[in-house]
Amino acid sequence: MPATAPVIDPAHAQPFYTHDEYLAAVARAQRAATAYHAGDVTVDDTTYDALVARIAATEDHHPAWQSTSSPTRVVTGAGGDVPHGTPMLSLDNVFDEDGLRGWAARLHKAVGQRVAQYTVEPKIDGLAVAAHYTDGLLTLVATRGDGRTGEDVTAQARLVAGLPRRLTEPVTIEIRGEVFMTDADFATANEIRLAHGEPVFAHPRSAAAGTIRAINRGYDVPLSFLAYTAVGVPDEHAAAHSTLIGYLAWLGVATTAQSSAGMVVGTSIDEVVDNVAALGARRGQLGFAVDGVVVKANFAADQQAAGESSRAPRWSVAYKFPADTRATTLLRIDVQVGRTGLITPVAVLEPVQVGGVIVASASLHNFVDLVLRDVRVGDTVFVRRAGEVIPEITGAKLDERPETALPFEPPAVCPRCQGEIDRSQKRWRCLRGRACGARESLLYYAGRDAMDIEGLGDKVVDSLIAAGLVTDPADLYELDAPTLARLDRMGAQSAANLVANITASKLKPLSRVLTALGVRMTGRSLSRRIARHFGTMDAIRAATVAEWELVEGIGAARAQVIVAELAELAPVIDRLAAYGVGMVEPGSPALDTTETPSAATLPLLRRDGTPMTVVVTGSVPGLSRTEGNEAVEVLGGRSAGSVSKKTDLVVVGDGAGSKADKAAELRVPVLAGDRFAELLAAHRAGKHKQARQILRTAQR
Ligand code: IVH
Repeated sequence: MPATAPVIDPAHAQPFYTHDEYLAAVARAQRAATAYHAGDVTVDDTTYDALVARIAATEDHHPAWQSTSSPTRVVTGAGGDVPHGTPMLSLDNVFDEDGLRGWAARLHKAVGQRVAQYTVEPKIDGLAVAAHYTDGLLTLVATRGDGRTGEDVTAQARLVAGLPRRLTEPVTIEIRGEVFMTDADFATANEIRLAHGEPVFAHPRSAAAGTIRAINRGYDVPLSFLAYTAVGVPDEHAAAHSTLIGYLAWLGVATTAQSSAGMVVGTSIDEVVDNVAALGARRGQLGFAVDGVVVKANFAADQQAAGESSRAPRWSVAYKFPADTRATTLLRIDVQVGRTGLITPVAVLEPVQVGGVIVASASLHNFVDLVLRDVRVGDTVFVRRAGEVIPEITGAKLDERPETALPFEPPAVCPRCQGEIDRSQKRWRCLRGRACGARESLLYYAGRDAMDIEGLGDKVVDSLIAAGLVTDPADLYELDAPTLARLDRMGAQSAANLVANITASKLKPLSRVLTALGVRMTGRSLSRRIARHFGTMDAIRAATVAEWELVEGIGAARAQVIVAELAELAPVIDRLAAYGVGMVEPGSPALDTTETPSAATLPLLRRDGTPMTVVVTGSVPGLSRTEGNEAVEVLGGRSAGSVSKKTDLVVVGDGAGSKADKAAELRVPVLAGDRFAELLAAHRAGKHKQARQILRTAQR
């Protein structure tokens, strides 16, 4: 199953208390569904599904209340002029593995025997259409509508890739599938809209729904189609769903099976569960939006035995993913200046759960797009998080814009250095480029918890930048004493000391270098963990996103940011390495050393090779806070920030506060700060036995 939890669980939905509340909810669902099928999303998917779940829960409690227009009974949506010879049904939804297995069990019962094969294919987030071919020629395309009648959208069918005008055979057949817009076409479509002075589409689904029924638009935007079933298929091609889909592909129509998501046949529900999870994991990389997976009994015989209700077939089910697009409020637009001087707008959002994670900020790409799209603070915006990709704002709901919302004013000068902005490209930059952030990044690099270069304070950094001697940390290693001595207020002795301190910093371990580089989304303790995990800078730079995810505390989104940051920092890292700055983490288990670290030599490593979790609180003689945490790792342990039942040891130095009390309360062993300093000294001197003895003096 996908790692992310379902957003709602209908089994635990709260029923409505009164009949009136129930009827109002049915009416609300009807309105939302009608708007949805017209391409106007008034509530997002998760909210709609939650409403339907409450309606269903109410009907379970009060079967007599059930309304004939309940979304649990009818296919929702507004009808049209074109009758469907065979109703276009909807699908029942499940939201987790239990739901899927429950469906399979009911199917087994309905069929009277185990279903021999299942198919798993993408549930495309578009709108259903029926394409009628007569003697191989496309004659009519109709939307699903209310399932019985739909709207004629034949005029726009010429825009739809995957729906040919002529089939490879002169057959008469009705092909059903989904019209949608790919992610790439969505970007193109919005460029076209902007060029025509029209507001951008809020998201791919509404873009597809709006476009397929658009009449007399002065421009065309691309659409796509994927077939998932057909009516009137010759018997020899209709024995199984997979055969039928193969036949449609042979006729020249694009099918779900041919899409980047593909279709797989499985012989057991266990296999189906795995296939659903596999497709869920690829969700962000398909190039188009899928809101779930559709599972079907493959054989027509099983399908017939299972039958269907007035709303949905019993032989198929939709496994819904947590919605990847949600509506939320845009609270603020921040302007960020990156390391290279790139200036970008970032949306600060009312936190919302998207695709299983809480999202509170999202990309707005660039100022040109932002101004053209006219997204405003206070707007209800759609935020989409497709798989691993950083969340983005796809558009705003214009009809919900507060009257007070003002257009966004892009910055007139660089918000960091107040300098001029280079606007020659879509992505704006501070004209000073890397030099714009030099002061901050150099001070951070030299800081006590980073490379700890004494004598490199803000005044010296300011003079170095003003003299044009440094713009990034690697420049520091080029400085010599005579050059430094020429700076204002810098004597020969201080210059010599500073050069010595800069040179000494080359001996720092990789964890310090990583910290000092200020890689976004990493801090001191994560930098240490990363350095220990990979051992060398080369290994870090070669790591794929999947390998990054093996580091505790790093998920896909964070991994992506780190990989991008490291790529941006590559020139600086290369130069630092060339100057001999440490690119190795001594003691990392990843290093291929002859003396592998063992419990015998590392007092905080257990015999089974797992590190003890240690919290250092208060001050340990001779060590800064960072050095205290580093020492834990040098000794084979894992440093943690808070005390819990899982903590193995708390080092209590002078001035320790609540963490020491917590340790006492939870009866976690405690070692005094000075004893810990002795333990470290013994370890450094190679006196492993003595080190272990000191550890044994830890008291509960
Ligand atoms: S099969 C009789 N397969 O999802 C079965 N539907 O929520 C008809 N959809 O109305 C549906 N991808 O518009 C099927 N691979 C797929 C689908 C799919 C998207 C849509 C379809 C249907 C809706 C139900």
